[in-house]
Amino acid sequence: MTTTLTLRRPDDMHLHLRDGAMLQAVLPETSRHFARAIIMPNLVPPVVTGAQAAAYRDRILGAVPAGQRFAPLMTLYLTEETDAADVIAAHDSGLIHAVKLYPAGATTNSAAGVRDIARVQHVLDQMAEHGVPLCVHGEVTTSDIDIFDREAVFIDTVLDPLRRKTPGLRVVMEHITTADACAYLADAGPDLGATITTHHLMITRNHMLVGGIRPHYYCLPVAKRSTHRDALVALATSGATNVFLGTDSAPHLDSAKETACGCAGVFSATNTMSCLAEVFDGQDALPHLQAFTSENGASFYGLPLNEGTLTLQRGAPQPTPGKLPTPDGPLTIFDPGRPLHWQVV
Ligand code: DOR
Ligand code: ZN
Repeated sequence: MTTTLTLRRPDDMHLHLRDGAMLQAVLPETSRHFARAIIMPNLVPPVVTGAQAAAYRDRILGAVPAGQRFAPLMTLYLTEETDAADVIAAHDSGLIHAVKLYPAGATTNSAAGVRDIARVQHVLDQMAEHGVPLCVHGEVTTSDIDIFDREAVFIDTVLDPLRRKTPGLRVVMEHITTADACAYLADAGPDLGATITTHHLMITRNHMLVGGIRPHYYCLPVAKRSTHRDALVALATSGATNVFLGTDSAPHLDSAKETACGCAGVFSATNTMSCLAEVFDGQDALPHLQAFTSENGASFYGLPLNEGTLTLQRGAPQPTPGKLPTPDGPLTIFDPGRPLHWQVV
């Protein structure tokens, strides 16, 4: 049995760091293990312009603990008012690595997102021409569509038409949660990639809803039934090169989750690598973990591979870390609901 695993230092290709005190609290949880991360722009107000991304990047770099190295890979939040020239300039300067499409109303701080895709088509055309990737939150938001169907309907009615209309646009399907998304990805060419979160590889909707409602498993897209989780695990552990880790680690204070109308988001930065080793080990797929965490994402984004390494060891199961304190109250760390044998050493 493998008991020690050394990986190329990983990248998190979908991360929420927030700002202010929360940023200070959560950034070390990522920078301890990860060399780089694609930083989500859904702040309040959102990161829309190159100037805003540069300022946010500086605030993130200011929060990196002494002695650690961490590179934030910035993104811009697409709105119907986005200035295409500003996007291209921010990309050409190396400041931003992608633009994020939030359908308006789809998730946390998405009110400024896109209502009508036609109104951003000129930006997408410029992005295709200049090689700027589009990261997509792939859920429709119309009230007649059941929340468990939002991703599959989005693929058919929004994503596929968008890609046909914008040849050459590089697209990342973010945090996929369905067998439908896995099948769509399998049929696509090299311009399409996908991220999968740690928690969607480990939980199903039962974790959230059976035996009481468990708000710390509530995220968007919402976890689906086990057949979908199993398809995600099969894809992530397969060695496919167009799928990579994006934790979507999304901190909300416990006070904002444990309430009558709780926020969506799972905070998994702290124990993501332990969780992933458990999942890959369970599939006898540890040799494919490095591609998922440290190679495929960098290749998709045209980045060099990281130089350093990260080592995990298998031993007796450890309790999950519990809570992370912040000045405004605690934050619950993802509990995968099963023992974790692997620990970063
Ligand atoms: O669960 C989620 N939380 N999904 C998202 O798309 C956004 C995120 C957040 O920002 O809290
Ligand atoms: Zn996210």
